[in-house]
Amino acid sequence: MTKRVRKAVLPVAGLGTRVLPAGKATPKNLLNVVDRPILAYVVAEARAAGIEHLIFIMGRGQGAIEDYFDHNPELETSLESKGKTQLLTEVLGELGRPGEMSFVRQMAPLGLGHAVWCARDLIGDEPFAVMLPDMLMAADVPALAQCVAAHEKVGGNIVAVEPAPPGEAHKYGIVSLETSDGRLNRMTGMVEKPRPGTEPSNLFISGRYVLQPQIFELLGSQQKGAGGEIQLTDAMLRLLESQSFHALEYEGTTYDCGDKLGLLRANVAFALRRPDFADEARRAIQALL
Ligand code: G1P
Repeated sequence: MTKRVRKAVLPVAGLGTRVLPAGKATPKNLLNVVDRPILAYVVAEARAAGIEHLIFIMGRGQGAIEDYFDHNPELETSLESKGKTQLLTEVLGELGRPGEMSFVRQMAPLGLGHAVWCARDLIGDEPFAVMLPDMLMAADVPALAQCVAAHEKVGGNIVAVEPAPPGEAHKYGIVSLETSDGRLNRMTGMVEKPRPGTEPSNLFISGRYVLQPQIFELLGSQQKGAGGEIQLTDAMLRLLESQSFHALEYEGTTYDCGDKLGLLRANVAFALRRPDFADEARRAIQALL
């Protein structure tokens, strides 16, 4: 019997250099996709996968993230008094549920591995999810739910992957597989940001993980890796020596919203997926082309 995945770590710190100047005063994960911040989609995806506790790893100047998921009494009273009940319902639907969200300050931007390690006491001794909120995933069955289902099937650790666009593998973490048979395959290795031409495959780590808590001990002693940062991929590679890792080629499409063009593509794609928005959006896009 595998333990249920109840908690998720969302590392939201990060300077958002690739989306400047938009990300200067607004946390990059609060940038807009259609009519709500990127992070709202990721939280909805977490809930759809049965996550009960979301742990945000925060950096300086990101208070707006907490505010987004909290009440805004002035706004709510105003919407109510004006009879804007539909909008009020939508705004209230975005709120964090009591006890559902924890906010941990990372203090120093030492890398993704360090950010995840900051959640160790809140996770304790159970498997947990990691969601990289830059990566927005459009999927009929939400991407994290696919990872959780894979975890229920094979246990151990699960890493969502997908083929990297040609020539882009060196920007990501890349996995190697024992066999390539169907969507769920045992991993034999992984490397963070391989030098161009040395990639062991074209499958990149796309930003959803289910990990076992033993990762924390390894993260605690993890040396700096690619980019001079403490890398989650390096600690996972060490955990692979004693635990199973499966790569799940999930069904869906990833939009890298930490990138200007990725954010633009996400806006178009998510508008076209919205039943209440799709027709108008299609007409507007066609008129522009
Ligand atoms: C991180 C991970 C990398 C993964 C990528 C997905 O890198 O370290 O393995 O492929 O996210 O976006 P970063 O984008 O923080 O450089």
